[in-house]
Amino acid sequence: MSKVVPTELSGSAEKLIRGRHATRAFRPEAVPEDTMRRILSLAGTAPSNSNAQPWQLEVASGAARQRLTDALRKAHAERRTSVDFPYSEEMYAQVHKTRRAAFGAELYGALGIGPDDHASRAAYDLESLRFYGAPHAAFLFVHGDGEARLAADAGAYMQTLLLAMTAYGVDSCPQGLLSFYADTVRTELGFTGGKLLVGISFGYADESAPVNRVRTGRAPVESTTAFHD
Ligand SMILES: Cc1cc2nc3c(=O)[nH]c(=O)nc-3n(C[C@H](O)[C@H](O)[C@H](O)COP(=O)(O)O)c2cc1C
Repeated sequence: MSKVVPTELSGSAEKLIRGRHATRAFRPEAVPEDTMRRILSLAGTAPSNSNAQPWQLEVASGAARQRLTDALRKAHAERRTSVDFPYSEEMYAQVHKTRRAAFGAELYGALGIGPDDHASRAAYDLESLRFYGAPHAAFLFVHGDGEARLAADAGAYMQTLLLAMTAYGVDSCPQGLLSFYADTVRTELGFTGGKLLVGISFGYADESAPVNRVRTGRAPVESTTAFHD
């Protein structure tokens, strides 16, 4: 194997990319508007097929955020779920299911919630619909019918956005759970031009919350990558 050749950016990239973690308890302080605009401008540099940029981000703060969380919790209580991108456990192979279970055990362990404590797990789902206390929630829509190829572009945008937030000291949590209430989100935001892929709560981490100390590992490169000569 040839030796590593660092560049001017590699040290910063290691710090930035490895420094992003999902945050699940936030302080209430808002992100200043100019910081948010910087972040969104940087996020917009994400690559996309033929530079089409087929995404739309709807950001809810203040009263709009409060209306959304109220509507989401009502929809949850009335069991009114709706998804634009169908979900099934069966889309995961056994190896993925094993990783998911390990992550779940770690997360609920940090929260002090046992495997059979369904009531506490349900209460935690409700906390998710409060955006974990974050002052902002962004909703990432894929244009039109949300075809899988366009969703790939939106995925690239999402990671660029999360890293831009990290760079500006803003913490985040992508939340697939929010996409289970697509119709509620659409109605509250009055946005009808696309399919809801994911929600992203963001703001500043509550560093004292034990849940924010969860650190996930990753599969070794060899188990997700093959090299062909
Ligand atoms: C598309 C997507 C959906 C996610 N949905 C949720 C979610 O609904 N709730 C949650 O707490 N975390 C969610 N996460 C965060 C993941 O659990 C987290 O990224 C993963 O466990 C790796 O941990 P890390 O982000 O701290 O590195 C989601 C992440 C992604 C990329």
